[in-house]
Amino acid sequence: MSVRNIIVTGGAGFIGNHVVRLFVNKYPDYRIINVDKLTYAGNLANLSDIEGRPNYTFVRADICDFDRMLALMKEYEVDGIIHLAAESHVDRSIKDPFTFARTNVLGTLSLLQAARIYWESRPEGYEGKRFHHVSTDEVYGALEMNGEFFLETTKYNPHSPYSASKASSDHFVRAFHDTYGMPTVVTNCSNNYGPYQFPEKLIPLFINNIRHGKPLPVYGKGENVRDWLYVEDHARAIDTVFHLGKTADTYNIGGFNEWRNIDLIKVVIRTVDRLLGRPEGHSDHLITYVTDRAGHDLRYAIDSTKLKNELGWEPSLQFEEGIERTVRWYLDHQQWLDDITSGEYEKYYESMYSNR
Ligand code: NAD
Ligand code: DAU
Repeated sequence: MSVRNIIVTGGAGFIGNHVVRLFVNKYPDYRIINVDKLTYAGNLANLSDIEGRPNYTFVRADICDFDRMLALMKEYEVDGIIHLAAESHVDRSIKDPFTFARTNVLGTLSLLQAARIYWESRPEGYEGKRFHHVSTDEVYGALEMNGEFFLETTKYNPHSPYSASKASSDHFVRAFHDTYGMPTVVTNCSNNYGPYQFPEKLIPLFINNIRHGKPLPVYGKGENVRDWLYVEDHARAIDTVFHLGKTADTYNIGGFNEWRNIDLIKVVIRTVDRLLGRPEGHSDHLITYVTDRAGHDLRYAIDSTKLKNELGWEPSLQFEEGIERTVRWYLDHQQWLDDITSGEYEKYYESMYSNR
């Protein structure tokens, strides 16, 4: 495949900035066009280190704007799309499901349709083209505490408005392959952690709260299990599948790294306290059990054996090293956190937690 002009949607978000950075650095011959609406979750400061690179372009646009997406396809003669733009936070989807349907379902459809019209208008058609859809393990639903894993063949069973919207977008992507012959590929990944994650998600939120002596709102009994993967390993997996994955196939991405929330939180507390020179146990009292998340999925666990066996990808980082790096990064980037949590977000956070 000789892809040269690649749109990455959602490149100013958490995972997107790592994908953009990897591609811009690794493929100087590619032109990477970062298409992002810059919602509350998008932040160009995440990409300040590559801003002026000759093979990088930023375009502020909404993926739901079909005319704009088609115009961008033509203007940049796009032959590859890596689609990450989405509303991504489960708690927000419970409050406001419509925004999730709009961006995640209609936005994906608008992008697919723009790609279809442009690629079908080309003399070479779909030859050398690729639409890579970045999705989540949450579409598979929830597992019991029984050692089972999500496989690529696991039946979809989403429970939250977020996962329902992602499941719907996955179906549209596969439908565009089956109906129009578009060369698509889908990846479903587990929970990511690492630098530049918006501090409404568990790990950055808790690091920041521990630093400032604020309560740590643990949903329910803290017994839910998540499978954590360092974000740069996810970006590498996307690179692998984008270039080597089989058309119309699905690849699970995960770290074989399951943690009960409460155990993970204790590791985060210990790490923050140690790095700040505080005595062990200093921040344990901040743990505050609050009302559970509605429809809270008990356990996620991804089996990524197929990706390892077929394409040779494996996580590169042990969790202990990943969490140490992550905590250090947030402690060293207080200004980044302050910039994005002041103003509108602060009001939202207060309203989310005032009635718990
Ligand atoms: P994020 O919320 O940090 O970033 C989303 C980005 O999309 C932001 O830059 C935002 O401005 C942009 N965006 C939102 N709506 C848009 C629109 N209408 N048009 C253009 N841009 C828009 O999300 P993330 O955590 O980086 O997740 C990226 C993708 O990976 C999502 O599709 C998500 O479902 C998927 N995913 C995330 C995880 C995870 O643990 N974070 C795990 C598996 C899969
Ligand atoms: O599994 C992949 C998914 O991981 C991605 O598709 C989503 O975009 C991403 O947000 C993430 O979803 P989760 O809901 O698992 O992540 P979150 O960080 O919101 O929560 C992780 C766990 O911690 C979950 O069981 C809920 C719990 N939690 C979360 C927050 C924010 C708390 O107990 N307290 C909190 O304040």
